[in-house]
Amino acid sequence: MSLLDPVWTSLLYLVAAVFFILALRGLSSPRTARRGNLIGAAGALIAVVTVFLSSRLENIPWILAAIVVGSAVAAPVARRVKMTQMPQLVALFNGVGGGAAALVALLELSHAGDPWVRLAIVFTLLVGAVSFAGSGVTFAKLQELMTTRPVVFPGLPAVMAAVLLAAVAAAAVVVFTGSLPLASLLLVLGLAAGILLVLPVGGADVPIVISLLNAFTGLAVAASGLVLGNVLLVVAGTLVGASGTILTRAMAAAMGRSVAGILFGAFRGGSTAGSTAVSERPVRSSSAEDVAVLLGYAQRVIIVPGYGLAVAQGQHTAAELALALESRGIEVDFAIHPVAGRMPGHMNVLLAEANVPYESLKEMGEINPEFKTADVALVVGANDVVNPAAKTSAGSPIYGMPILEVAEARQVVFLKRSMRPGFAGIENDLLYEPQTSLLFGDAKDSLAQVLGAVKAL
Ligand code: TAP
Repeated sequence: MSLLDPVWTSLLYLVAAVFFILALRGLSSPRTARRGNLIGAAGALIAVVTVFLSSRLENIPWILAAIVVGSAVAAPVARRVKMTQMPQLVALFNGVGGGAAALVALLELSHAGDPWVRLAIVFTLLVGAVSFAGSGVTFAKLQELMTTRPVVFPGLPAVMAAVLLAAVAAAAVVVFTGSLPLASLLLVLGLAAGILLVLPVGGADVPIVISLLNAFTGLAVAASGLVLGNVLLVVAGTLVGASGTILTRAMAAAMGRSVAGILFGAFRGGSTAGSTAVSERPVRSSSAEDVAVLLGYAQRVIIVPGYGLAVAQGQHTAAELALALESRGIEVDFAIHPVAGRMPGHMNVLLAEANVPYESLKEMGEINPEFKTADVALVVGANDVVNPAAKTSAGSPIYGMPILEVAEARQVVFLKRSMRPGFAGIENDLLYEPQTSLLFGDAKDSLAQVLGAVKAL
């Protein structure tokens, strides 16, 4: 017998749903994101407790054991993960969600007499399985357990088409007959489709596919809510589906690409993994003291943070350098490209951690016209997001991606370790331009040396 009557259950579900919506609202700005996250977690807690109190659950020890095991694995992993590994962690958690929805749907099939419910079941099965397997492949790619380059083989589109056709046929039979063996086959076909969907996606596009699969999981969970007659799952799943879709489109737009181009680009030879060959042209390398003089006697400096700053964990030193320059009367801003780093908002989160004031973080549209007034653009561990090839080289994998116009600044200084390219694997001609100098080394070390030299001026 359950402890909560249906009215209380619905009320608590409503409260949880409102918490989820407020969480999304909070997450839309770095200022309120932490609170948003906590509100979302509180909503999830309310939802889980409500399920326990309102349902006649069997196998409670098993359920509790599963919760304990899941928490024991996930909590330390989430605590220990580096910020730069966040996309693959999201992929992993998201994939598990899709897989769970698919398993629930499979188990519910034996109770489903209504063909409409079975329709929701086959949808959950297929989309959940695609999300599970696809997320697994994205995890393996980003964790470099396999190549990050697109994997294509002759006949891949035909194999994909055959798998999808077989899946549609199996789904139709399951809807009309409720056949468990065919539902299991559908699960396998969904797993195959997920793998085949993600294998050809390469390089810089992988995080976008993670977001797309996130949206898929949301849809699968919403459909599982229909299967179980649980309104909260429908609401929460729809929120995840919608926000994942919006994020996917925003990321694709920030890279000047279409979602279809990302998914099917490799079939047409448009993959994002370019050549990693480095040319032998000469570059102007600088010392920390030279860079300090450039910065210390400038009027306007724009710092462009990128993935390398995150890897080096140089955000605190970058913030200190900005303060040191400001104390000399120099105007300093941070230029934030929407896909700098490896996840949406990566640079905002990184710099917020170092207490850089939000007013100093300028989005691309706002800062681009200002580069021509800057004496120095200091590019710290960024490459693709400032690569002019995105504008000038039609064949380039990043062609069409809006970039930060650092070349407009009077001087450009790159802090990086070597001449290796960025995530998209393509050379940056700006490194060889006469107004560019390079300070080689780990971003944090280089920043610390420059900071010391600025203070000594
Ligand atoms: P990247 O183009 O990946 O360049 C990073 C640079 O940092 C490299 O030049 C690397 O050169 C340098 N670096 C690495 N570790 C360093 C360290 N410890 N110290 C100093 N430098 C270091 O980064 P970006 O400009 O931020 O561009 C982001 C890329 O990710 C884009 O291609 C973007 O499309 C892709 N992407 C991002 C997202 C989101 S949402 N952020 C989503 C999808 C794709 P060295 O190895 O020579 O040091």
